[in-house]
Amino acid sequence: MPVPVIGGSTCRPFTGHCKSFEIKGVVMGSAPATGSQNIQSTLQEDRLFPPSEAFAAQANIDSEDKYLAMWERAKDDPVGFWGELACDNLTWSKDFDRVMEGDMPETKWFLGGKLNASAQCLDRHLTTWRKNKAAIIWEGEPGDVRVLTYLDLHREVCKFANVLKRLGVTKGDRVTLYMPMIPELAIAMLACARIGATHSIIFGGFSADAVAERNNDAQAKLIVTADGGWRRGKEVMLKRAVDESLAKSPTVEKVVVVRRTGDLHTKMEPDRDYWWHDLMEDVTADCEPTAVDSEHPLFILYTSGSTGKPKGVLHSTAGYMLGAMMTTKWVFDLKDEDTYWCTADIGWVTGHSYVVYGPLANGATTLMYEGAPNWPDEGRFWDLIEKYRVNVFYTAPTAIRAFIKWGDEWPAKYDLSSLRLLGSVGEPINPEAWMWYHNVIGKERCPIVDTWWQTETGGIMISPLPGVTATKPGSCTKPLPGVVPDIVNEQGESLGPNEGGLLVMKQPWPSMLRTLYGDHERFIETYFSKIPGCYFAGDGARRDEDGYYWVMGRVDDVLNVAGHRLSTMEVESALVSHKAVAEAAVVGFPHEVKGEGICCFVTLKQNTGTQALKDELKAHVRKQIGPIATPDEIRFAVAVPKTRSGKIMRRLLRDIAAGRETLGDTTTLEDYSVLANLRKEDEG
Ligand code: PRX
Repeated sequence: MPVPVIGGSTCRPFTGHCKSFEIKGVVMGSAPATGSQNIQSTLQEDRLFPPSEAFAAQANIDSEDKYLAMWERAKDDPVGFWGELACDNLTWSKDFDRVMEGDMPETKWFLGGKLNASAQCLDRHLTTWRKNKAAIIWEGEPGDVRVLTYLDLHREVCKFANVLKRLGVTKGDRVTLYMPMIPELAIAMLACARIGATHSIIFGGFSADAVAERNNDAQAKLIVTADGGWRRGKEVMLKRAVDESLAKSPTVEKVVVVRRTGDLHTKMEPDRDYWWHDLMEDVTADCEPTAVDSEHPLFILYTSGSTGKPKGVLHSTAGYMLGAMMTTKWVFDLKDEDTYWCTADIGWVTGHSYVVYGPLANGATTLMYEGAPNWPDEGRFWDLIEKYRVNVFYTAPTAIRAFIKWGDEWPAKYDLSSLRLLGSVGEPINPEAWMWYHNVIGKERCPIVDTWWQTETGGIMISPLPGVTATKPGSCTKPLPGVVPDIVNEQGESLGPNEGGLLVMKQPWPSMLRTLYGDHERFIETYFSKIPGCYFAGDGARRDEDGYYWVMGRVDDVLNVAGHRLSTMEVESALVSHKAVAEAAVVGFPHEVKGEGICCFVTLKQNTGTQALKDELKAHVRKQIGPIATPDEIRFAVAVPKTRSGKIMRRLLRDIAAGRETLGDTTTLEDYSVLANLRKEDEG
């Protein structure tokens, strides 16, 4: 297929002008208020780890010159660059005739083309030797194992797609998936994609209320769930949470339930609830993929923003698939013979892009594990690596910090020599954790790719290329081809080396989110109004004299707890919904393992603060949002510090929660005695 040359305009040139806005949480050019990273400590970081010659020689991108040529081409000629990649890597039912059209944020990609994401992940491999290659190797927490070849996975996906059709799901409908990490989750995703339905996956650790809220926002027609899943030897009761959520989500008509744990108490409502295995019995495995437009919504994934209401990040089909596919190939240097393991739950974007869509589009073998890293003991991950001879391992700094705490004796018991590449994602990795990963797991042999990206970006944006980039512990290094970032101040002016500022993107990229489901205005407002002409990521960062990026953490009211995004307001609303609470202010504080912990300052309607009430409030938040939002600390306060215009001064609370001296300006504080009282409580 020839490369289409009609490009539409690329993107709005960066003007350098912007509205001024309040940067919360970041003292520009000095230490950040949240996250484990800190300019002062990383400024001293001067260790450099170039890839070995042997690694570089076999890498998919094998020289600095190649990387630079790709990066420059993508910046100057995005139409040619992305057009060629889309022709060479995606399988089209109908060729596209325009590569990109429209300014950011309204850029559309590969217009006129039609394709199907499940065919991209499955069908195209069936005509090759990969048909009987393992697509998914799965291990359950109790130790049960399943291996699905590409042919097996294709058969199951086609059958479940027929089940969905039979239950009345059609192209464009939204389907909620609230499932444990079992193969049926990947099957259900691909089955939705096969018929053009849009999936909305909700992490199994969210509560019934959170499920209801997301069902309602997406107007979901059907839910796929399981009786339960295994986590640290216990059953997570998913179907029960679904039952509770359905009382509040009227759009859901049908529920499909996978039998996973065998929970005998699972209640099945006639004409609403169906067992997966019953439905799969009498459908055929013939299901042609529905060819959808390039811009057809592949999925919605809810994530926390700086207000209480979660944002339904919507991704397209062609642009997202191309981004997931190319970044997997470039960053993880995937080879056909690799066994690749990304430990993320599919309920988060990392699982979407790097457990399912990216690896399968590349025809890789992806390992999926259901349970906890410390079950039955702290050696489980290393046992899996040894057992399946994992070559590429991708995990999160919070997990790495937990491994460090558990002790080197656990990895030492296992043969990790199959590993050739390590990855990190989700939050800044502190240089000590990076060095531990490098020495103890990588045995000083494996390059580490610290990948910066977001739910919104769809795929990795800033990351080392393992055969090219000399890495620095704590830096996600340089932008991938097609990614044009900058560090700017509040006025949108580009900043010099090592000046802390806001991380923005100046050019559109194919896998960027297209909108927030049902709220296009919020989409524009959140990402494109702060620095006009640019995508604003919400992170503070600096770029060093070598052009390496160092991300410091969020500059908005978003917490990053164990690599999971949570909004302070979400937790605050959960707290004030408790009858004893008058007001709540929630901030993050540095946490040894989780990166950030959750500290809640609570004022009560009546002054009756007891330990029992603290426990009750923690349980209340857990019930409202889910276990990931369980507060680490509740502090009762007579009042919380506010500005004269009534805004909670989170910066002060963050200092108090972290046990720091209060930094910076307090002149806008309404009432100094509030601060003094909080400090007194702290000391007492
Ligand atoms: O603050 C950044 C942090 O995680 C945020 C995105 O969270 P989420 O959408 O849940 O996606 C997580 C997985 C892609 C970012 O705004 N973050 C993610 N990766 C890194 C990171 N911070 C520093 N370094 C990273 N490698």
